[in-house]
Amino acid sequence: MIERLWAKLSKSSLQPADPGAFENVPEHVAIIMDGNGRWAKDRGLPRMAGHHSGMKAVKRITIAADRLGVKYLTLYAFSTENWKRPKAEVDFLMKLPQQFLEIELDELIANNVQVRMMGHKEDLPPFTISAVEEAIVKTANNTGLVLNFALNYGSRKEMLEAVKDIAADVQQGRLAIEDIDDKVMADRLLTSGLPDPDLLIRTSGELRLSNFMMWQLAYSELWFTDVYWPEFTEAHFHEAILEYQRRARRYGGL
Ligand code: FPP
Repeated sequence: MIERLWAKLSKSSLQPADPGAFENVPEHVAIIMDGNGRWAKDRGLPRMAGHHSGMKAVKRITIAADRLGVKYLTLYAFSTENWKRPKAEVDFLMKLPQQFLEIELDELIANNVQVRMMGHKEDLPPFTISAVEEAIVKTANNTGLVLNFALNYGSRKEMLEAVKDIAADVQQGRLAIEDIDDKVMADRLLTSGLPDPDLLIRTSGELRLSNFMMWQLAYSELWFTDVYWPEFTEAHFHEAILEYQRRARRYGGL
């Protein structure tokens, strides 16, 4: 299987996605895109230059995921904790989805990509929301790769809101405590309707989850690299997929 994948990749440059071409490609890949600031610092550039370059990596990896036949790509673009950063950096990060979509939306549409967002919309500036919502509406009927941006996303907040929702249903008599199971919880998370990630990638050498998809990653394979996000290429992505394909997933069984 690995040999077949390499054969495919070596001639993959401009080939369309061909999901049936190889087995065991992760259906859902989630990425913590880390290291923009350090990438910029190493080059004597402002942090914003790192984020700008990170945006180009988003495009690169979206194309790479689509070519491989990945069905869902979830990208951690802004966490509920990122508001603690200096205002100028937050403002810059808030403009990135709009900038990205202004440049790439037509191509995403042409490539049958479906844009989604998961996160707490209430605190996001209107221009960020409207850019993302426009992309969601315009790509709603696309059937290719689902590109899911985690924007103002935090796993603890997501789980607390799900728990409150369940508690309210119990209080109102709509749900019995003994009926609360994984599905009841999963249906109330922001990922409702999406499969759990098969593979989590984190760049930049940090080895933590940083409040990202802590329910959904329960049985995901984790893959870390020292490479900073702006320099993360299709080749690095393939490396992660190949490593994933070598692993045996047992989900607690034998
Ligand atoms: C973490 O690196 C990165 C972020 C908080 C922002 C990630 C955003 C992008 C990669 C661009 C998003 C693009 C779109 C289209 C939404 P860091 O700043 O924490 O890096 P550091 O740890 O080296 O300081």
